[in-house]
Amino acid sequence: MTSRLADRTIVVTGASSGIGRALAEELLARGAEVVGLSRSPGRLPDGVRPLAVDLTHREEITAAFSKLEIFDALVNCAGVAYQSKILDGNPADWEEMWRVNVMGLALCSQLALRHFPKSGGRIVNVSSLSGHRVPPGGGFYAPTKFAVRAITDSLRLEIKAAGLPVQVGSVSPGFVDTPLLDDYFRGREETLRQTRASMHMLQPGDVAASILHLLETPPHVEIGDITLRSSDQRV
Ligand SMILES: NC(=O)c1ccc[n+]([C@@H]2O[C@H](COP(=O)([O-])OP(=O)(O)OC[C@H]3O[C@@H](n4cnc5c(N)ncnc54)[C@H](OP(=O)(O)O)[C@@H]3O)[C@@H](O)[C@H]2O)c1
Repeated sequence: MTSRLADRTIVVTGASSGIGRALAEELLARGAEVVGLSRSPGRLPDGVRPLAVDLTHREEITAAFSKLEIFDALVNCAGVAYQSKILDGNPADWEEMWRVNVMGLALCSQLALRHFPKSGGRIVNVSSLSGHRVPPGGGFYAPTKFAVRAITDSLRLEIKAAGLPVQVGSVSPGFVDTPLLDDYFRGREETLRQTRASMHMLQPGDVAASILHLLETPPHVEIGDITLRSSDQRV
């Protein structure tokens, strides 16, 4: 059966690694055209149209989107994670997380709305279980993901009030086996080793499958959020 996504154009931030990369590969396999945003376009999967952008810079985001024509969906997957405490963490880490996870995601969403066809579009945000509950030691990362959840809900209300044919949803995974965990557990490598050993962790493709479900759902169905975790993850 032909996928609903065949011949659609999907813009994926963070398509060079982890969840975004797995998603880009699945989209290509379904016949979609994929535009990948990343600071390192050389790391994008073959077949992805590269768009170099550092999401900490508003001007770069605006310039990148100005190069795009009409497209059908945006997946905000790029993110950074440090367990940087409010108590004594480095504010430079907070700032980077805020700029990429929150400001970058919101600006990409605003700009994408100008590129969707009249028939409609879809935005999927990659949040986290840390957008639903604050894990011990979650520091400033969880607040950025709570913000992603609020932005997703705010934007959905605004879109409905404006009468736009656009659906907005999110996926909220627990631990996923990607390079992001090396940053999240920076300085606590033994804890990361034990965490990996304690569970059959979600793989990037598991999360990509949930994002694909949101993207493939017909326009009259709007999924708000999908939470998923390893069956071995306790909280
Ligand atoms: N892994 C987990 O356990 C987990 C759990 C819950 C939620 N998440 C969320 O899932 C999303 C994807 O994470 P992942 O695990 O797949 O991480 P990852 O493998 O480290 O990938 C992160 C992606 O974000 C991009 N990125 C980071 N900073 C950027 C910047 N300043 N400008 C442009 N792109 C930037 C990276 O691209 P370049 O480096 O090429 O620029 C990379 O493609 C994130 O939003 C993360 O918060 C992850």
